[in-house]
Amino acid sequence: MPNVFSIPWWKKTTVYQIYPRSFYDSTGNGIGDLQGIISKLDYIKELGIETLWFSPYYDSPQRDFGYDIRNFRDIAPEYGSLADAEQLIKEIHDRGMKIVMDMVLNHTSEEHSWFKESRSNKDNPKRDWYIWRDGKKPNGKAPPTNWYSQIGGSGWQYDSTTDQWYWAAFLPFQPDLNYRNPAVQTEMLDTMRFWLDKGVDGFRLDILGSLFEDSEFRDNPFCFKLLPSESDPGMLFQSAEMTINHPDTLEFTKKLRELTDEYRPARFLVGEVLGSYETIRKFCGESGIEGIHSVFQFQTLEAKFGYDGFGSLLHQSEKWFPDPFIPTWAFSNHDCTRRISILGNNLDKAKLVAAFQFTVRGVPYTYYGEEIGMQQVKISINEAKDGLALFYKKFPNFILKIMQKMFHGAIYRDGCRTPMQWSGLGSGSESGSGNNYAGFSPSPVDPWLPVDSEYPRINVDEQKKDPDSILNCYRRFLAIRRQYPALHAGKMDVFDPKTLPSKILGYKRTALVNGVEQKLYVFLNFNKGVVQFPSLFENPKLIASTTILSQPIGGSQITLQPLEVIVVSREKQK
Ligand code: GLC
Repeated sequence: MPNVFSIPWWKKTTVYQIYPRSFYDSTGNGIGDLQGIISKLDYIKELGIETLWFSPYYDSPQRDFGYDIRNFRDIAPEYGSLADAEQLIKEIHDRGMKIVMDMVLNHTSEEHSWFKESRSNKDNPKRDWYIWRDGKKPNGKAPPTNWYSQIGGSGWQYDSTTDQWYWAAFLPFQPDLNYRNPAVQTEMLDTMRFWLDKGVDGFRLDILGSLFEDSEFRDNPFCFKLLPSESDPGMLFQSAEMTINHPDTLEFTKKLRELTDEYRPARFLVGEVLGSYETIRKFCGESGIEGIHSVFQFQTLEAKFGYDGFGSLLHQSEKWFPDPFIPTWAFSNHDCTRRISILGNNLDKAKLVAAFQFTVRGVPYTYYGEEIGMQQVKISINEAKDGLALFYKKFPNFILKIMQKMFHGAIYRDGCRTPMQWSGLGSGSESGSGNNYAGFSPSPVDPWLPVDSEYPRINVDEQKKDPDSILNCYRRFLAIRRQYPALHAGKMDVFDPKTLPSKILGYKRTALVNGVEQKLYVFLNFNKGVVQFPSLFENPKLIASTTILSQPIGGSQITLQPLEVIVVSREKQK
């Protein structure tokens, strides 16, 4: 059994994702900013989180809200300055937390000076920093290959200045950098160094699987698949073999690892990659140490709530990411429908998901507001601000309807990016403007996206007061996760289902702490009813439950309320 103290911090941590535009607005212009985030760091610390990941706040025209970068070494003025970013790093470290920035290696904004130069003429020294090709003969008016972007349709964009096409794996205004050019690799590794030298503890690597494409520009082959899934990016009857998860991208992860390995204390990388468990694990190298440190397992986003869905997640994750690989557990992010809304806004289910995340082996990711049960907000495509909404608006209505059904209504992403609900402040007349702001700013304001109308009930202040709120459930589970090495660093053994009542998922977490074995048992009740079963040992001791309203332990019996999760230990244990 590994010594818990020798395990690196990034394998034991808990991560909270902040979407800077929507966290807290300190200036009163309706847009979140870095000073706003700094003023709320104590809240995150008290919540019990150890690491913060920020969606991008670099200089950007904001057509993809920061994922279209104009300057990787400066900050968007509406968020603050470089000095504010340095202060943010320091303030996070002062509180004993870590900071992970988002790094968009794959592309820039079309407004980046590199691209402006690159598109200006074919002989410009920056021409080869991006991927330019002639269109298909005879007249060059058809895209060079059949490659689709990740959002559908050809990813090739015609540019009349030089009568050539550039490749963009995501939105048209996000031209892909050319990683076959060594100068690009050097520059982007240096960009990461720039931030690592400032003390940043790691990066989340945006659409990492798209860095390299086929060097011979061969067409993607046909495949029998209409819509993409998290496990297979093929779509519209085309596989993504030539464009996503190319072997040269896997090779490049070694350079990323070498770069972070230069730094002490340890830094870490988590990659956004699409594909089966087998495919995405390859990004971490053969034995988990040659490539990047971890990848998101987006199978979590598709898993059906229930004993079978979660049991299978656990099984697959342990099968493909056994120690020394480390699984990641994210159920929400800035690109998908808020989890609680997928769960029918059922608080008990949301608490169960959180308790699962914080007690299984791996690194849990919480998306801002998830801890108070913030819901998906309905925003019509005409009111939406996301670049994807502007892109998809052109599609016929019936196609949009099909896509919305497939993606739980989230083909554009405004609904999960609405302002954090801090308090019950700001209902109509109070805010003066008639708009809700939920304490998003020090004074009434029109936030950049509408606040959920449920904010009088779903907000931080309100939930702090209620001991049985979802917020307090998060705090309890985060507290025990930090307190018990068995939970944050231990080994995990999943119980044979035959030893437990139907639809009870159970696992044991074990760690050696100063020579003493620490064992914790977790039971999740996926049943709609109360379940009682004999404990596996005498006098179990309750460590935590998702609800404070039950008394699950009585003698040697365990009684679980519907959807309750408990963590127990043996009485004698410390
Ligand atoms: C990733 C990000 C998404 C962004 C896209 C392009 O998928 O998560 O928000 O729009 O990459 O950078």
